[in-house]
Amino acid sequence: CGIIGCVGRADETLDVLVHGLSKLEYRGYDSAGVALADDTVSVAKRSGEIDELRALLDETTIDGAVGIGHTRWSTHGPPTDANAHPHGDCTGDVAVVHNGIIENYQSIRDELVADGHEFASDTDTEVIPHLVEDALADGAEPMAALRRALDRLEGSYAVAAVVAGREAVFVARNDSPLVLGLDEESQPHDESTATGGATRATYLASDVPAFRDYTDRVVYLADGEFARLDAEGWTVTDGDGTPVEKEIDTVAWDAEETGKSGYDHFMLKEIHEQPRALRQCLRGRVDELGAAVDIEDLGDLSPTGVQFVACGTSYHAALYGAQLYRRAGIPAQTFLASEYATAPPPIGDALVVGVTQSGETADTLSALREARHRGARTMAVTNTVGSTAARECDHALYIRAGPEIGVAASKTFASQLAALNLLALGTAPVDRPRETIAGLRDLPGQVQALLDDSRASAVAEQYQDAGAYFFVGRGHQYPVALEGALKMKEITYKHAEGFAAGELKHGPLALVTDDTPVFAVVVGDGEQARKTVGNVKEVEARDAPVVAVTDGRSDVERYADEVLEIPETHPEAAAVLANVQLQLVSYYTAKGLGRSIDKPRNLAKSVTVE
Ligand code: G6P
Repeated sequence: CGIIGCVGRADETLDVLVHGLSKLEYRGYDSAGVALADDTVSVAKRSGEIDELRALLDETTIDGAVGIGHTRWSTHGPPTDANAHPHGDCTGDVAVVHNGIIENYQSIRDELVADGHEFASDTDTEVIPHLVEDALADGAEPMAALRRALDRLEGSYAVAAVVAGREAVFVARNDSPLVLGLDEESQPHDESTATGGATRATYLASDVPAFRDYTDRVVYLADGEFARLDAEGWTVTDGDGTPVEKEIDTVAWDAEETGKSGYDHFMLKEIHEQPRALRQCLRGRVDELGAAVDIEDLGDLSPTGVQFVACGTSYHAALYGAQLYRRAGIPAQTFLASEYATAPPPIGDALVVGVTQSGETADTLSALREARHRGARTMAVTNTVGSTAARECDHALYIRAGPEIGVAASKTFASQLAALNLLALGTAPVDRPRETIAGLRDLPGQVQALLDDSRASAVAEQYQDAGAYFFVGRGHQYPVALEGALKMKEITYKHAEGFAAGELKHGPLALVTDDTPVFAVVVGDGEQARKTVGNVKEVEARDAPVVAVTDGRSDVERYADEVLEIPETHPEAAAVLANVQLQLVSYYTAKGLGRSIDKPRNLAKSVTVE
C-alpha cells in the first residue's frame, strides 16, 4: 500500500495528493482515496485504480488545506469502496490511512462495537479512527490521541491521520516505511519563526517518488517515531513524546527518473535503464585497472559462511549470490525468507544477507530479525537508502539502480547480480577476480548493444498464444531460468516454470508438448553447456519449440527454432545478459496479450505483510 500526506499547499492539496498516489500506485492499486481537513474532514475513496478516484473527484467537491491519501493492496477484506482508505470514526471528525497489518484488531473491534461504535468496513485499519475518537472524546490532543490508539495495537503500521479543526497531519511509523519531504522553507518547529512565517509545504509518503516532483529534501522516519506536520513546519518525536533531531537527506536522483520518458511502460523504460543502472552500481567500486573492488561499509568482512534470505526476484538473485560464494570455497545457502524461521539453519559465524530491492519486504525483514536474534551479523543488499533493512542490518550494500516503478522487477535484478559480484569479490577469495571485474565492466555496453539489436519481440509474437512456457538453465543460468519464468507469469498471466536443466527429465518433461516453448540459456562451450544442450535435445525430440538464449559457443543453435544472442563474456556476467533477453520476451508477450504490464493483477511491488 502507499501513503501520501501534504500540508502547506492550500488549494493545491488535493492535486498534490492525487499526483502522489499516481506515483505510488506500484505499491498497490486495488482502491484509492483521500481525506482533506479544515474545520471538517471530507473523504473521497473508491475501489479500482486511481482513475476511478479521479472520476469520483470530478463529480464531488471536497475541500481542506491539509490532506492524506492512500492506494491499497488488499490484506483484510476485498477491494470495495467501503474497504478503501481513508477510514473514519463515528463522528466523521477523524480520517486515517494505514499500511501494514494489525494483528489484534478483531478483539479491539469487538470491544469497540460493544461500546457502541459502528464500523463501515471489513478492514483491520478501521479500529484506529475509532480508538482515536474515544481518546479525543476523553479530551486528548490529536497527537496524544493517536499515540493512545496505537499503544493498543500489535502488528505493523505506517499511519497518517487528519482531525477536524486541526490543519495538521499526524503520523506514526512502526515497521512500515514513511518519509517526509520538505520544501525549501519547511523547518523543524523549534527552528521555525512560528506563526506568520512563509507557508511551508511538507509532504509525507511511503516512498520518495510520491513527492519528488516538489522537493529532494527528505527525512526518513524510524520505527517508533511520530511526526506532526502543519503549515509552520514539522516535529518528529519518539515513543515518549521527546523531540528527535533528524538528519535531512538529499535524494540522489531526479524527478524524471520516476516518469516514463516516452516509453509505453515503466517496465520497458526500466529494462532500457539497465546500462546506466549497472554503471552506477559499479562506479567508484572497482579500480580503473579492474583489479580490485572497494565497497563502502564492508570493513574487513570476510565471512566463513553466508546465508541469503530473499523473496521473489530477489530470491533468484540470492541463489546466484550463493553460487558465487560456493565457487569461492565458502559455504553459502539461499533461503526463501518466508521459510527461514520455520527451520532456521545453524548460524555459527555466518553472515546473513537479505537481498531486497525495496528493503521493506516483511518476509525478508522478519528473516533478518530472526537471524539477528540468533546472533548473526546481517547485511542488506538493497536499492533503497534509509529502508528498514538498510537501517536494521549491520551492513548495507546499495545496488544503486535508481527508482523502479514497474511492479515486476527488471533493472534491480541486474543491479543485484552486479552488486552480489562486488560483494563476493570484496569478501571472498574469488577465482580469477580480474576476469570477473572485467566482465562486470563490460556489462553496461553489452546490455546496451543487446537492447539495440534484440529479436525478442519477434520471438514473443511467434509464441504469444502458447499454452505454457518453460525456462531451463544450469549453474549461474539456473536462477536466470527461474527469473525468466517468474517475469513471464507475473506480467502475462500465463503458466510459466523455470527448472534446472538437468531436472527436466525428472518430471517436468511430462508437461512438454509442441505447444510449450522451452527457453534454454546456454553459455560457453564447457561441460555444463554440453549437458544443457543434451537436455535441449530431449525437449526437441518431444516436438517442443526451443528458443536458445546463447553466446553461440555451443552447438545449441542446431536444435533451436529461435536464437536470442548474447555477447560472449564471463559466465557470471552472461547471466545478466541472458536475463535481459528473457525480460524483453516477457514484456513483448504481455504487450501482445494486452496485459497491464506495469501493474499486474493481484500483485504489489513492495509487500509489507507476511
Ligand atoms: C514482491 C514483488 C516482487 C519482488 C518481491 C521482493 O512480491 O511483487 O516483484 O521480487 O516482492 O521484493 P524486494 O523489495 O524484497 O526485492
